[in-house]
Amino acid sequence: MASQDELKQQVAKAAAEYARGGIIGVGTGSTANYFIEELAKIKSRIDGAVASSEATAQRLRGHGIKVLDLNNVSPGDLEIYVDGADEITEHMHMLKGGGGALTREKVVAAVAQKFICICDATKLVPVLGKFPLPVEVLPMARSHVARELTRLGGQPVLRDFTTDNGNVILDVHGLTIVNPVETEAKINQIVGVVTNGLFAARPADVLLLATQEGVRTLKR
Ligand code: A5P
Repeated sequence: MASQDELKQQVAKAAAEYARGGIIGVGTGSTANYFIEELAKIKSRIDGAVASSEATAQRLRGHGIKVLDLNNVSPGDLEIYVDGADEITEHMHMLKGGGGALTREKVVAAVAQKFICICDATKLVPVLGKFPLPVEVLPMARSHVARELTRLGGQPVLRDFTTDNGNVILDVHGLTIVNPVETEAKINQIVGVVTNGLFAARPADVLLLATQEGVRTLKR
């Protein structure tokens, strides 16, 4: 039986086949780290990468991959964004941000033409919300946002973490997210919220799911 790490490695390898040239958007997390290793093997084929976090940028540079500023990249050159998820549904709605990089991940994903989500099978769920939903918040708005999230039925817990953007994260427990598009918009409406970890308005386009029987490809 393949271990979870072996499954992540398999799915990262499958994603590298989509990296045929141009600039690649690269996510954050342990699965994305395996993807960086695969990308390093084919770096002569690409023009560079856009990173979704400082940690990813550092790792890319460590592998000799050029890291570009998103502001200098035209959307036509950013064909794919490859990233993991904490949860994903068969509708390709994702819950992300376990690693705290949700805002930059969402920005890079917004610019890329295609979002390729790479996960092991444990991440596929019928309904999002069992994994606490990360919400990036301006530090001075922390208490206000926490009260509003409680009104929405969640139990926010402050993470001992500062984001790459200098903000804090509230992890919201106890939500059953039956309408992710609506919940994503509602939470983003709270003043002081920078982003929340629901990726539903812009879902994944391709899901590469590593299972014990091999990598499954699901498309939207
Ligand atoms: C990072 O902020 C997250 O959105 C990650 O993409 C997510 O947590 C998946 O990480 P793993 O691949 O480590 O499970």
